[in-house]
Amino acid sequence: MRGAAKACANIALAKYWGKSDEGLNLPAVPSVSVTLDALVTETVVERDASLTADEVVIDGVRQEGSPARKVTALLDLVRAAAGVEVNDPRRFARVVSQNHFPAASGLASSASGFAALTAAGARAWDAPLTTEQMSALARRGSASAARSLYGGFVELPAGVPGDDALCARMLHPSDWWDVRVVIALVTRAPKAIASRDGMRETARTSPYWHAWLACAPGYAHAVKEGIARRDLEAVGATMEASTFAMHASAWAAVPAVRYIRGVTLDVLDRVEGLRRDGVGAWATMDAGPHVKVLCAGADADRVAAVLREAANVIDVRIARPGEGVRVS
Ligand code: PMV
Repeated sequence: MRGAAKACANIALAKYWGKSDEGLNLPAVPSVSVTLDALVTETVVERDASLTADEVVIDGVRQEGSPARKVTALLDLVRAAAGVEVNDPRRFARVVSQNHFPAASGLASSASGFAALTAAGARAWDAPLTTEQMSALARRGSASAARSLYGGFVELPAGVPGDDALCARMLHPSDWWDVRVVIALVTRAPKAIASRDGMRETARTSPYWHAWLACAPGYAHAVKEGIARRDLEAVGATMEASTFAMHASAWAAVPAVRYIRGVTLDVLDRVEGLRRDGVGAWATMDAGPHVKVLCAGADADRVAAVLREAANVIDVRIARPGEGVRVS
């Protein structure tokens, strides 16, 4: 009747941007990520036959409208997998989800959120789902969530339209490589443009959309090879190339889909400065202005100290490769 799950967020080392099938939420390009131990979502799903709709509370706030509908849509998939009738009047549940993130931040919590929701829901309804099947379901909520079912280093292939079974897979466990991701939070403001809308507008209007589709698979391949060799310079440089190509394609949309702010550039200058000083540090940004810096475990404190000096950086946290989803 009740399921609880903890999932970590992840950060893409080779970026996903754009869909091959909007309805099934299939990515147009392959991506590679590392799961992060410092960003955790904990979700409890409790079936309650007295409810007349799902009740959703995230970080203590009762959700209405679109956020609540997204949770219900995902639970509908879990309920279907468990054989619950679509119109069963006793099908609803109470969902309570808590993000344990560095700050209430605008840092993407959808990956850990949908991963934890899927796993907690599967337990609550006793749905006989494998991790692969849960990854495929979580993908319907947010493609990056498919990766958060797994710990360590993870890949999500590009999706062939119609292939609803597409799921992520673990490449290497979390102890494969002693790297860190240093996260610099630069604002508490919510995301300017949802990733779903940003991707759609990039595909629809950016002259660089096809260039992005052409180069993204090469980044994913190079990142995978670099992780297998534990070659930080290769992974870092490719991650930056993937990041800038993704953002450039979005920036060229009309009107521009722009997530980078002034403070983002200031942090990027500092990361370049670290490299000039001989510290292996490389930056990436997602659908927001925060900067995440990949470096060796031994360099993380120095990198964090330099990022903390930047004006407008609100908080800096160091994350290690984390574990996959845990259910209780
Ligand atoms: O899955 P979404 O909708 O959260 O989109 C994620 C897109 C990026 O974070 C920008 C890149 C990625 O691969 O995580």
